[in-house]
Amino acid sequence: MKIVACNSNLPLAQAVAEQLDIPLCNVSVRRFADLEIFVEIYENVRGEDVFVVQSTSYPTNDNLMELLITLDALRRGSARRITAVIPYFGYARQDRKSGPRTPISAKLVANLLVEAGANRVLTLDLHAGQIQGFFDIPVDNLYAAPLFTRDIKERYSPKDLMIVSPDVGGVVRARQLAKRLDVDLAIIDKRRERAGVSEVMNVIGDVKGRHCLLVDDIIDSGGSLCNAAVALSEHGALSVGAYVTHGVMTGQAVEKVEASPIKMLTITNSILAPQKVASSQHIRQITIATLLAKAMRAVSDESSVSSLFD
Ligand code: R5P
Repeated sequence: MKIVACNSNLPLAQAVAEQLDIPLCNVSVRRFADLEIFVEIYENVRGEDVFVVQSTSYPTNDNLMELLITLDALRRGSARRITAVIPYFGYARQDRKSGPRTPISAKLVANLLVEAGANRVLTLDLHAGQIQGFFDIPVDNLYAAPLFTRDIKERYSPKDLMIVSPDVGGVVRARQLAKRLDVDLAIIDKRRERAGVSEVMNVIGDVKGRHCLLVDDIIDSGGSLCNAAVALSEHGALSVGAYVTHGVMTGQAVEKVEASPIKMLTITNSILAPQKVASSQHIRQITIATLLAKAMRAVSDESSVSSLFD
């Protein structure tokens, strides 16, 4: 078993390697002067079971290209099996035609990964589980829910606790977490009555006097989460917190979270947090290193990965 790290999240790759007690493979993933990517693998990988750790987060296209070129280098180096470990799978939100003459970029990315040499994919909280079907190779989709469940149990009393989905699309994910915690579920239903009129936030469920935890897979601009938090406060929530797997955090997301009723946003380290995120008093990170390490060990040993879902 060998672990190769590209550049998007070296601390996470390092932490995974430490958990597995395997040093990171000696590779160089660097740029030529014109920013072309060049990869060199300095150790023999012939016949090896190789895991490449790379989130395709910002800068998405550069990170994706690094991954593709690294996969190519490993395949040409005769690795026996190559698993692309993609803690945050970029382009996942483009998983269907959103209108006439638009792409399905998640499918294109799946094709590229396979074409470049991936034999398996290991990822976390895919935006849509069906993306697994875009691949004709095995895809293991891990869940942050067990980590979130443990963390919530340590930090919150179940009394008056409520899990909230910030939109109708996230209900399945939120319901699973509510079930694990054995607490109630509420749903924010966003509706724009007419074009150009601002969205109305209907809260389905009685959140008055409850400690509400919003749950989502991605926080990007922060709009969905912060608007949902305001709606919950207006409907009488005692407090609002949030658990989100992937902290994409573009633009003014940090400022929005800090100015919102969200007391604490918990994200994972699937994406390397920029300084602004890491130093915010309203954002904390929990690590997925152990989860990834266990899953990689299970893949390598050909043992069950689903036991990690409990
Ligand atoms: C949408 O379907 C996702 O689950 C997230 O709710 C969305 O990507 C968050 O985006 P933003 O933070 O920009 O509102």
